[in-house]
This record gives sequence, structure tokens and C-alpha cells, in this order.
Amino acid sequence: MAVRSGFTSKFGFVAAAAGSAVGLGNIWKFPFEVGENGGAAFVLIYLAFCFLLCFPVMVTEIAIGRKTQLNPVGAYKALGFKKWSLLGLQGIISGVLILSFYNVVAGWAFGYFLEMVSGNFAIGSQFGEFINDIFRVGLYGLIFMGATAFIVSKGVSGGIEKAAKILMPTLIVIMLLLVLYSFTLPNALKGVEFYLLPDFSKISFPVVYSALGQAFFSLSLGMGALITYGSYVGKNDNIISSAVLITLADVGIAFIAGLMMFPLVFSQGLSTDGGPGLIFVTLPGVFETLGPTLGIVIGSLFFLLLSFAALTSTVSLLEVPVAYIVDEHGIRRNNAVWLVAAVIFIVGIPSLLSNGYSDLFTNFITYIGADSPTSFMSLVEHVANDSFLPLGGCLISFFAAYIWKKENLVAEVSKGNPNFKNSIVGKYIDFAISYLCPIVLGILFILTVLSRFFGINIIG
Ligand code: TRP
Repeated sequence: MAVRSGFTSKFGFVAAAAGSAVGLGNIWKFPFEVGENGGAAFVLIYLAFCFLLCFPVMVTEIAIGRKTQLNPVGAYKALGFKKWSLLGLQGIISGVLILSFYNVVAGWAFGYFLEMVSGNFAIGSQFGEFINDIFRVGLYGLIFMGATAFIVSKGVSGGIEKAAKILMPTLIVIMLLLVLYSFTLPNALKGVEFYLLPDFSKISFPVVYSALGQAFFSLSLGMGALITYGSYVGKNDNIISSAVLITLADVGIAFIAGLMMFPLVFSQGLSTDGGPGLIFVTLPGVFETLGPTLGIVIGSLFFLLLSFAALTSTVSLLEVPVAYIVDEHGIRRNNAVWLVAAVIFIVGIPSLLSNGYSDLFTNFITYIGADSPTSFMSLVEHVANDSFLPLGGCLISFFAAYIWKKENLVAEVSKGNPNFKNSIVGKYIDFAISYLCPIVLGILFILTVLSRFFGINIIG
């Protein structure tokens, strides 16, 4: 497998996995989820989920990946549990669904880069028209999917991740500069308060399941992406320290994005619940205040680097279904890539049309007990992100603990980390994978489905 043979060093794996994790989830989705879900209380719940529930799942995915060197479907088969390959298939479907709408948003980010280059700061207030200029944003989406497919087909992800090593720190520096700048603006403190001072009365069950979906989405977990990437990890590498690095990088970048956004939102007098448009509406106006030259430089760089961060994520999302049909159905890699990319682009078209352009897809479905309809794009997100990913996390931990057996997991993680079993982290992961993750994630999954799609709220 060309793509997967590219890495031998530990840093290669961490860079690839961090590249997968860091993307629109951190910079676009995290701030608007925080904004819609009451601020700091959401942030706290999100952090707890990342470290307590997601981290053990991440270790498990990487361990299964290193052990089997396969795609999610093949991995369960290789371990000798053919029926469990259905779980791999569920992951692949999640990946296809996620990439279908992710690519639409990546197209927006790329389009905003072009707008910034031409100094069109007014685009912020024209976001609604921008996303409904269907042929243009459709073309950007097509370009983005094409670039993703090109990278996956040429097996040049290695090169992309090398570039990411320079570009991601640049993005972080720009965001930190914007944090500093935002603090000098009027009302900045109100934004910081909203982001960091929890108001526990804002916690309701939807806040909890949104935080859970966000944690899995941001860390690229629950669909087997890290099973596929786990084959990058060398036999003597320490899975735990890699997983710690990936988690800290991902959570850290999301945290900075929030710290940047809320002072800006408050200083511009905008509403925190701007939804998916939050960064697209807020940022151009901020760049404008930097003056024409600096505004264009910082604005274009920001959206260019954001597009780039999205690209290392779309590559990982496409890689999983491609690896599956190459390994399991013997289709040539090059054909597989373009076929899967085309299918996913088509699956994404209703999402593209569901932000006002087509009434059918904009008001696609009304959940039982809901008073307003949900768009096609949101439906896909609710199913794939908030339901399938946590379910995948629940089942993969159950699988590792009771089917594959905990001893095998511990043995795999202990390679490159001989003290794992007796370390505090080892004991915690043992407990989490055996009890906490399967039970808590299972319960949360059921409650999420009941609450979201059927309007039945057992708690909150
Ligand atoms: N984590 C990425 C982001 O935050 C998105 C992503 C890439 C993803 N690969 C994934 C999400 C696998 C879930 C599963 O932008």
C-alpha cells in the first residue's frame, strides 16, 4: 500500500494522525458548538469527554491498526472475528457521510481564501448569499475533492504531512496573534467570560451529546480512521505517548480557536449562536479592521491555512473507504480513489443545496417532537457525527475488552512501552475499555437517539 508505507518514524505517524485530527472540527465547528451550547460549561464537558472517554478509544484504535495493518473491515477479520467486520463497515459508512458534508465546508473555506485575496471583506455579511451561489461553491467543493483524491491516489500524503509540519505551526501563530489582537478590542472580556466561566444552568442533555459528538469528530475517532493510520506506527513506538501528543495538539488548537473567536464575536456585537456561519461571518470584518494590506495578508493566510488543515483531514477520511475497497475487493488503488471520491462528492450534493438553495433539502425532515425542520446537511451530521461515532467508540471498546480480549490489547500497547500494564495510564485504560467506555458510550448513544430523533428526553 503506497500511502501506508510512507512512514517509519514515530513523528511520521503523529504528524499524520494529528493532521487528520486537526481540521475544520477545531477551528470551524468547535467555536460554533461552544456558542450554540452555552459557552464554558460545554467546553468543560467536551474536555472531560476527550480525556476520559476518547483517549482510551484512540489507544485502542491505534493498537488494532498496528496489530493488523489493515482497513477497519479487514482488521476485525484478521483478528479472527468475521462478524465484527460489520462494525468496520459502519465506520466506513460514517466516514463517507462525514466527508460528504465536510468537503462542502472545506469548499467554503477555500472560497473565502480567494475572497480575502481580492480584499472582499464584505463577504462576512454576505455569507448567506455566498453559500447559495451553488455553482461557485460547488466548483470549490469539486476542486477540494479533486485535490484530496489526487493526494490519496499518488500516495503523497507523506509530503502533505511534511508540509503540515510547517503550515500548522504557522496557523497556530496567526491564531495566537489574533487572540492577542482580540483582547485589545472593546467587549473582549465578555467573550472570554462566555468561553471560560461556566454557567452550569446551561447544561441540558443536548449540550452533553453535542459535546460528545464534537469530541469524537475532532479527534477523528469512532470510525476506524486511526485503525487505518495505526499501520503507520512502528512496532517499537510508544502508542501511549503518541496518543497523548495527538490529543493534546488537537484539544490545544480547538482551545485556541475558541479563545480567538469569542472576544471577536462580542467585540463585533454578533450573536454567539451563529451556527455553521460563525467564523465565516465574524472573521472578515475583523480582518478589515487590520487595514487593507495587513487585512488581506492575514485574512488570506488564515483561510489558506484553514483549507490546508482541512485537506489533511479529508485525506484521512477518503483513505479509509479506499483502503477498504482496495484490500477487500481487490480494486486497483487509483480507480478506487477516483470512484470513491466521485461517489462521496455526489452524496454531498444535497448537503450543498441544503443551506437555503433547495427548499426540499433545507427543510428536509422534522424529527418527532421537534417544532422546526432539519436540513439534509444537519441530518447527516446528527446521524454520522453525534450518533455513529460514539456508537463506534462504544463497540470498539467492547470488542477490544471482551472479544479480542483485554490481554491482547495490553500486549499490543506494551510493545514499545513495557511498563504500560502497571502504569497509572495502563490501569485507567484497562478500566475505561472494560467498563467506562462501553457502558457510558452505550447509554449516551441510546439517550442521544431518543432525544434527538424522537423527542424523548429521559434526562435534562
Ligand atoms: N477530525 C477532523 C477535524 O476535526 C475531521 C476528521 C478527519 C474526522 N478524519 C476523521 C472525523 C475521522 C471523524 C472521523 O476536522
